[in-house]
Amino acid sequence: MGETTQVIKNEDLLVMSQIYTSADSIDFTIKDLDEMPQPHRVLMVKPSFFDVEYVINPHMKGQIGKVDNMRAKSEWDFLVTGFKELGLDVQILDGEEGLPDMVFCANQSLPYSDGETQKVIMSRMFADQRKKEVAIIEKWFKQQNYEILHLDSENIGAFEGMGDALWHPKKKLLWGGYGFRTSEEAYSEISELLDVPVILLELVDERFYHLDTCMCMLRSDCVMIYPDAFSEKSLEMIYKMFGHVIESSSYEAEKLFSVNAVCPDGKNVMIQQGCTDVNKKLRDAGFSIHEYSTYQFLKSGGSVFCMKLLYW
Ligand code: ARG
Repeated sequence: MGETTQVIKNEDLLVMSQIYTSADSIDFTIKDLDEMPQPHRVLMVKPSFFDVEYVINPHMKGQIGKVDNMRAKSEWDFLVTGFKELGLDVQILDGEEGLPDMVFCANQSLPYSDGETQKVIMSRMFADQRKKEVAIIEKWFKQQNYEILHLDSENIGAFEGMGDALWHPKKKLLWGGYGFRTSEEAYSEISELLDVPVILLELVDERFYHLDTCMCMLRSDCVMIYPDAFSEKSLEMIYKMFGHVIESSSYEAEKLFSVNAVCPDGKNVMIQQGCTDVNKKLRDAGFSIHEYSTYQFLKSGGSVFCMKLLYW
């Protein structure tokens, strides 16, 4: 009898595990997955206190004190206008003195919606300098009536929200990057909390320290990536799940953050100015390109995608 109980427990565990780490283990197709509504709201944090004051990624080296605040403000303003022009509902939160990276509001949380309820998993920032940002974003989400979820386990390490965790367009499937800012272990708890499958992607190049610097969701069948940022096993999973993979060159991905773009509607792509090569590929695949200058924010290692948070 003892044995029987043991067998059932093991089977239950297998059924419950929704973490995928190799192409062979992925036993579903995108069509099999539950639908997820597309978010129509955008949160942005004013860059009033944006600056490079410390170095927590390779792009920030040599940039301390080099941000031109007037330019940063006007670049940010253009981005706000751009989101509004695409029909998104933009909500704006004030920045906080002493939190120069808070403007990158993709990082403090991972919002979720099944169409009826809205939840948000709060991040655990990797760097001490950014930890205080999370409570401010949490307070804001409480005001939006989101159910607030925290990662509880002692040993899960860091999790940097939508810097590393990206929703597959319109599907209940999470792509989870790990290696620099988020720990692999965080995703088991996230998968359980939201009851969603997670495909884990290992990041191997510190210049591409967040998943959103090397993977940009475009459509359910189409993604833009910088391939060398991933381990081979991870690349195989990307190629298995997307019919169309657009690759960015190393110059545009590293120097212009081409892959830190956003496609909120499966049609329009908002991207840093000057990404000539990848823009041609994107246009050939049917996307409309909208270019923005984010040069001041590139000094901190961020661009269009991480300067906003899409939510419901
Ligand atoms: N200076 C910020 C940091 O290193 C930039 C964050 C950019 N965010 C992103 N998701 N790529 O944390």
